[in-house]
Amino acid sequence: MAAENVSGVQDRPRGLFSRFYASMSPRLDEEGLAELREELLAPLAGAVVEVGAGPGGNFARYPSGVVSVIAVEPEPYLRGLAGAAAGDASVPTTVHAGVAEALPLPDSCADGVVFCLVLCSVPDQIAAATEAARVLRPGGIVRFLEHTRAEMRGLRTVQRVADATVWPLLTGGCHTCTDPVAALREAGFVVDDVRRLRFPADRFTQPSTPHVLGTARLPG
Ligand SMILES: C[S@@+](CC[C@H](N)C(=O)[O-])C[C@H]1O[C@@H](n2cnc3c(N)ncnc32)[C@H](O)[C@@H]1O
Repeated sequence: MAAENVSGVQDRPRGLFSRFYASMSPRLDEEGLAELREELLAPLAGAVVEVGAGPGGNFARYPSGVVSVIAVEPEPYLRGLAGAAAGDASVPTTVHAGVAEALPLPDSCADGVVFCLVLCSVPDQIAAATEAARVLRPGGIVRFLEHTRAEMRGLRTVQRVADATVWPLLTGGCHTCTDPVAALREAGFVVDDVRRLRFPADRFTQPSTPHVLGTARLPG
């Protein structure tokens, strides 16, 4: 389905980065991101909201139990690519303008929310997690694959320096020394299924190498 524009929603154009990310996405998938995407999406079922969908690299990978995907993407170029990718998705998929901190969606409309390499670019991760909680139905889950701050102090220092200097300029606002699991917990989620991993596993360590992949649930 074509990308839909929702009036009154802020676009976040990232001209150079959006083109760079779209061109490097196939290589990241070859380096192991494709497998991580499959693992990320496998537990989902029902209606899913994907936040910051980029060019739509997850759309063809949703499991058969997913009945619909509503993708939200603030960057106009990537949103256009996502609209094209939605046309090839096996699950009915629509793409909307919008930001994680103010999803253009009603309360309790989703059984699952996906954050895939997006919270690092969201200035207020707790607001994004709170929005995920708002749109989830009781029993729904968040699946996340995100950059995270390093456990080793030396690499964490490198991350902080990178975040304070060139890294966000080169990577569309990404900050590597963040704690998405803490943000989800702060928003009321229980996160008891989380795996730390290196990606890309075989490349030299960079500020963006440490990741977390897991599930967040609302209690009760
Ligand atoms: C590294 S890309 C990842 C794209 C996609 N999720 C993927 O797995 O390939 C980061 C994405 O987050 C989006 N983004 C940045 N700030 C955002 C915000 N405040 N709300 C929602 N998405 C945002 C960017 O436009 C971009 O599409």
